[in-house]
Amino acid sequence: MNKDIITVTSPLLPDLNLFNECLHDIWNKKWITNNGSYHQLLEKALAEYLKVPYVSLFTNGTLPLITALQALRITGEVITTPYSFVATTHALWWNGIKPVFVDIEPETGNIDPQKIESAITPMTTAIMPVHVYGQPCKIKEIQDIADKYGLKVIYDAAHAFGVEINGESVLNAGELSTLSFHATKVFNTIEGGAMIIKDENTKKRIDYLKNFGFASETEVVAPGINSKMDEIRSAYGLLNLQQVDRAIELRHQVAIKYQKALTGIKGIKIWNDTPGVKHNYSYFPIFVDTKEYGMTRDDLYFKMKEQNIFGRRYFYPLISTFSTYRGLPSSGRDNLPNAYKMADEVICLPMHHTLSDDDINRVVNGIIK
Ligand SMILES: Cc1ncc(COP(=O)(O)O)c(C=O)c1O
Repeated sequence: MNKDIITVTSPLLPDLNLFNECLHDIWNKKWITNNGSYHQLLEKALAEYLKVPYVSLFTNGTLPLITALQALRITGEVITTPYSFVATTHALWWNGIKPVFVDIEPETGNIDPQKIESAITPMTTAIMPVHVYGQPCKIKEIQDIADKYGLKVIYDAAHAFGVEINGESVLNAGELSTLSFHATKVFNTIEGGAMIIKDENTKKRIDYLKNFGFASETEVVAPGINSKMDEIRSAYGLLNLQQVDRAIELRHQVAIKYQKALTGIKGIKIWNDTPGVKHNYSYFPIFVDTKEYGMTRDDLYFKMKEQNIFGRRYFYPLISTFSTYRGLPSSGRDNLPNAYKMADEVICLPMHHTLSDDDINRVVNGIIK
């Protein structure tokens, strides 16, 4: 057996010498956090790269979700998806908001707009969809429903760094969008995240909220939190931004090879690129049909693990099955058949910028055999 481990992901790391130069500069300036020069530069550089009006940096991708809900004063019930990372729903819980789960579309893994309206009650104030695996949600349909019922839309866009539809960033959809720059993401700052904001006033308010609510030296305008990004990770981010296009292109090449090798395998479903969408190739999910493939998803997952090929059952288990949420009226399997099915069938294959052809062949052979 080939013992080399193939990991599900591998972090994009800046050149160590360049990073060292930044560290020397930061040490000389002795300004290590609180809206320093690297922080300001990264916010501007990201806004330009992502084609969005304003970016506010955060210390991870969970706190901008929590802060977005605070900023828009969202209360009551929020319609969301159970097919996500648990932080999406936790952000609602931390704001004392009741999550209402709506089923997903089998073709995208995203919340199904057709099922949103029937979940709206007088308590509903917002919709929180997720662009799962960076696959864009049905933005227009969701906005139309939000407009009809006077709801806000906050996107958990943790996976959607750089994703565009016909040249327009998906991050401009809804009222606010949030990103994660965790080490596992296409663009990382080790830990980190951001909020995408449309106007200067809101940007100012968000900047207060992520710094305890301070609007000036002596004025606290809201019960803010501390979720600022520091100078060291901002500098790391600036260096990574210079190489992220190359990393995405390398991921694209991996996706093309997986798509070619795995098309037509009985019982294995894959997704191809969507016309008009600029993908970021952050994940490569496959879906295992037990009957047709002759093996369960878990059996395949563990068989690959024995060969030192580490995929990830992402997202499994569904958020709605965790103890905090399973008692909710919307958590039942009957309400979420597509989400349960996808969670039972999915494996995200190893996907990153350092996968070699040999690695890809080993992954593919692990599935074909
Ligand atoms: C969809 C989604 N939302 C939120 C988060 C939370 O981001 P972070 O880990 O940076 O706090 C993640 C992280 O994996 C995620 O995948």
